[in-house]
Amino acid sequence: MRRDLTRRGLILGGAVAAGSTLAATSGYLAAPRPDDQPTSPAPSTAAPATEPFHGPHQAGIATSPQTHAALLGLDLRPGTDREALGRLMRILTDDARRLTEGQAGLADAQPELADIPARLTVTFGFGPGLFTAAGLKHQRPAIDLPKFSIDKLQDRWSDGDLLVQICADDPVTLAHALRLITKDARAFATVRWTQRGFRRPPTSQPAGHTQRNLMGQLDGTVQPTDLGKAVWISDGPAWLHGGTLMVLRRIHMDLEKWDRADEAAKEFSIGRRLATGAPLTGHNEHDEPDLHAKDHVGFPVIDDAAHIRLAHTADPAQRMLRRSYNYDETVSADGVTDTGLLFISYQADITRQFIPVQQRLAATDLLNAWTTPIGSAVFALPPGCTTGGWIGETLLA
Ligand code: HEM
Repeated sequence: MRRDLTRRGLILGGAVAAGSTLAATSGYLAAPRPDDQPTSPAPSTAAPATEPFHGPHQAGIATSPQTHAALLGLDLRPGTDREALGRLMRILTDDARRLTEGQAGLADAQPELADIPARLTVTFGFGPGLFTAAGLKHQRPAIDLPKFSIDKLQDRWSDGDLLVQICADDPVTLAHALRLITKDARAFATVRWTQRGFRRPPTSQPAGHTQRNLMGQLDGTVQPTDLGKAVWISDGPAWLHGGTLMVLRRIHMDLEKWDRADEAAKEFSIGRRLATGAPLTGHNEHDEPDLHAKDHVGFPVIDDAAHIRLAHTADPAQRMLRRSYNYDETVSADGVTDTGLLFISYQADITRQFIPVQQRLAATDLLNAWTTPIGSAVFALPPGCTTGGWIGETLLA
């Protein structure tokens, strides 16, 4: 701190000196006018934005989505058994807790980067292989998906024994956390895949507004009404109470083909307006879609194969919580982007909530003409922990 102040003093001193020289050589120094006031905001004195680490549920699920996400799928090294997993999860929890609170990690080589937590959350999930490695197959919840007809899954985006989901409003904070967590896990696991995603930052669009995906649609309008029923697990294996199940689908978008569809076709395929997100039977984004409405020749206004009709769940308490991120990776030599959606849903029961919706979408969703799932993974996310506790202790301790 003392060193910073000294350095800052030197720099400021230098700037003043340079300003004086300019005034002397140019012959005048303009008096400040009210409209000359700097337009950039004054430095904020507000406390750094943090998301609480401890609680009955892990952070990063019901948390208002941060701007950046990095998802890490790990494969356990041979010999990483229940005892080793316990050690790993204690280390990971400790560093996740420190970083989210704006403190350096335990063996942090860049502690300066921990100063700005930027609403960092680090969330952990267990894939099927972890239960086998720990000798705890009998504790494994139902986390298998059937093969869907539309899937063109690639191994490099699919499966994994251990998930780490890192989200923050600042990409520097995110990169630092990702590196530290990866280093912590090196002795126990190898990296199977990394997937990065983004949304609009709060400086562009206030929190709480529905975001647009890269097809231009408002995506995330309809969400569950009761997270206690829809997301948090309260029956089944006791270790998972307060946890949830996460589905991650990497869905490629053929935007070149989407560009060739006209606005009416785009709206027809979803069943909502592009400009407002309103259902084709309404005026405002949150109007209830009328799935029975017919047009003047007797056809349904919201088509039988429209995305929102097929994805709809009658009981609002049983909806999945969608918290997706855009991805946009490389541009090919002929100028075509690799773009899509990291579709992320959290639900208490994938058999009841996710699979039937995905099966209906796979069968007839009009959106399938432009979208292709290329990655898929499911994880059980343990509950949160208290101060002094660690994520996964209810299973591994
Ligand atoms: C790239 C792929 C996808 C795109 C572009 C997309 C886009 C959209 C859009 C624009 C909406 C309407 C606004 C809203 O309520 O959010 C919507 C609704 C919805 N989507 Fe998707 N979606 C995709 C994949 C999926 C998948 C894979 C699932 C689940 C298997 C899903 C489940 C839902 C659900 C549950 C709704 C709300 C339906 C309702 O009750 O009205 N979507 N989606």
